Amino acid sequence: MCGIVAVTGYKKALPLLINGLEKLEYRGYDSAGIAVISSETKNIVCNKAEGKLNNLKNNLKNAEIPGTVGIGHTRWATHGKPEVKNAHPHLDSLGKVAVVQNGIIENYQELKSKLEKEGISFDSDTDTEVIPHLIQKELIALSQLNLENNGSTLLVAVRNVISDLEGSYALAVIWSGAPDSLVVARRQAPLIIGLGEGEFICASDTPAIASFTKIILPLEDGEIALLTPLGIEIYDSNNERQYRNPISLQIAEQVIDKNNFRHYMLKEIYDQPEIAKYWLEKYLIKDLKTSKFQIKYPFDTKFFESIERIEIVACGTSKHAAMVGKFLLEQFSGIPTNVFFASEFRYSPPPLLPNTLTIGVTQSGETADTIAAIKMEIQRRASMGDESYKPNLVAITNRIESSIGRQISNIIDIGAGIEIGVAATKTFFAQLLSFYGLAIKFAQIKQSQSNETISQLISELTKLPPLVEELLEKHNQSSEKLAHEFFNIKDVIFLGRGINYPIALEGALKLKEISYIHAAGYPAGEMKHGPIALLDKKVPVISIAFPGEVFDKVISNAQEAKARDAYLIGVAPKCKGTEIFDYLMAIPSTNEWISPLLAIVPLQLLSYHIAAHRGLDVDQPRNLAKSVTVE
Ligand code: G6P
Repeated sequence: MCGIVAVTGYKKALPLLINGLEKLEYRGYDSAGIAVISSETKNIVCNKAEGKLNNLKNNLKNAEIPGTVGIGHTRWATHGKPEVKNAHPHLDSLGKVAVVQNGIIENYQELKSKLEKEGISFDSDTDTEVIPHLIQKELIALSQLNLENNGSTLLVAVRNVISDLEGSYALAVIWSGAPDSLVVARRQAPLIIGLGEGEFICASDTPAIASFTKIILPLEDGEIALLTPLGIEIYDSNNERQYRNPISLQIAEQVIDKNNFRHYMLKEIYDQPEIAKYWLEKYLIKDLKTSKFQIKYPFDTKFFESIERIEIVACGTSKHAAMVGKFLLEQFSGIPTNVFFASEFRYSPPPLLPNTLTIGVTQSGETADTIAAIKMEIQRRASMGDESYKPNLVAITNRIESSIGRQISNIIDIGAGIEIGVAATKTFFAQLLSFYGLAIKFAQIKQSQSNETISQLISELTKLPPLVEELLEKHNQSSEKLAHEFFNIKDVIFLGRGINYPIALEGALKLKEISYIHAAGYPAGEMKHGPIALLDKKVPVISIAFPGEVFDKVISNAQEAKARDAYLIGVAPKCKGTEIFDYLMAIPSTNEWISPLLAIVPLQLLSYHIAAHRGLDVDQPRNLAKSVTVE
């Protein structure tokens, strides 16, 4: 989704901005732009391009823009099509103020109409463009008070303007009247200041900062800051000056390298055995006295003992991981668990119940709906004033430095390393592992399973890395071949039951996200209540069938599809019953509890190869964003 980079300092701004924007490309965008204050003319030089960053770079190939203060943006269209006129930065009519913004200004229509009545004409269809016009108006008003043209004046103007804005945003503003200054502000959208050598870099996401500095100051919600080469002034929403120490960035310099893979997505699918090893080493600790394995978290889990139910909020792929989590927490650990779309939960939460654990699952740690749902839950629980209703929170994230990391202190770091492919693969796998950890922990606390059953699950998990490696070896080429046959299909149905129903949903999501083929996942037993009407020989059905309680049922549901001429693909161990499949993507026969961790791998590979074969932009599919920071 949209990305912001902004700099002030002593070094040339343009290369820093382009470098920062390159690091934000993975988030998904459809146009890009920069604005720099020329140190020669003191005017703002702005350049924007539709499409990929390369188009902007081509525009700027021979451009020499001297200047050390600038802002840059990658835009993911919300208001207005992805065209040059709608790309950021947006300027006021005098060309003196430039603004980049992430978020949505909800009352922009009202503000725009007022400005238009005053004679201001707009160049774009965006909500953002009202901001530079309003700032310019404010600067003109302030000039009548004989305030100097400097950063402090810009700060006052921006503060006055944002008090009239509704919605959530992060923004960065430059003004030719204060050519060394940069003003940034945020409300419910992330913004982080990086303290470099001789420069400050502000960005909406850490990869844009990591190669410059490891010392950061995240802006808190509602804060505004003035940055000049001499220092930073931060103010809260009550205009109180804030003083706090910088912190160090907890991520290793983000190595964004494809390692000879054709796409990041394929590389990330191949990262999964390493992720399993990392998880086993980090979270599974052998108690030397008892020789038993324990799940070890970097926070005190004593409060888990009083937990009677769990609610999980998440979006997209994270929600599918949470659904596997629900199955494990209910069926293995015996704790009633509900999973909610964060976007639904925030406006129609269930009635409050006591002794509840709320889990936020978000790879990026920045998904606006998930962050807002958690915030709302913290507030409504805190307002009960009853100890048993207090918020008990855990976050499962890949980005501990993110907004959710600052909102919740009990963090389970999935440690998957940065994921560049917009379609989540390795982070889904790592989120699943986190739920296995929680399920084991709760099963031990609640004694819902015998020690032997718990040990057996742990022992199966320890075997994961070679099993996943084997799956990759076995299915990469074969799914590429299968993709050749299927790249032209229009619809695919994915079926699963029990613990693998969410895997059917995730398999379908992966396929539609990157190949633009319509796909739907269903609990296998539901097929006859609707989707069966779609079936004929042009609609393949992919069934996940794992020996266990529902195996025979899934096989008979597959049979029903075969009777309607559907081509059947099975994701199942080679065993009696699976001869029904026209094509078997064989997975090892292990304990059913861990089958989701295996079944997802061939499905990821199949989606990847279908999209790659169709010649699509696998890593940055159209219209999608890696981190969705608007509602
Ligand atoms: C976007 C991404 C998905 C992701 C979802 C939730 O839609 O494209 O891959 O699953 O957001 O993101 P989160 O960072 O909260 O897990």
